[in-house]
Amino acid sequence: MQELIRQAMEARKMAYAPYSGFFVGAALECKDGTVYTGCNIENASFSPTNCAERTAFFKAVSEGQREFRRIAIVGGKEGEMVAPSPCGVCLQVMAEFCEAAQFEIIMARSEDDYTVRKLAELLPNSFSL
Ligand code: THU
Repeated sequence: MQELIRQAMEARKMAYAPYSGFFVGAALECKDGTVYTGCNIENASFSPTNCAERTAFFKAVSEGQREFRRIAIVGGKEGEMVAPSPCGVCLQVMAEFCEAAQFEIIMARSEDDYTVRKLAELLPNSFSL
């Protein structure tokens, strides 16, 4: 748990967030143990902004991964960390690839201050075709 949070903290250093000043890092653990990290990437046009969680998922899926165990998320403005809850769009992306009753979302302020929730708790009903 602590190592995954540490990796999310490291990824947060790459965040590109000149508009919100809110820097986010994520570390996604696959079932085979591989970890993919991501950061938020903002844009002057705002809507193309990508959250840290989706960056991590899209990196992983584009490398052939399809099975995921858990994700750690850290974030906050300069000097004030919070434990960010994933946005609805990111939860929907998670629902595409993860078993909602099993997949764990770790929202962390630090390596030993975090909350763990199952995807099913944060998104009880996802859209599906
Ligand atoms: N953001 C994330 O990267 N993940 C979250 O869980 C919540 C929000 C980003 C998007 C935007 O760059 C900034 O945080 C403020 O909304």
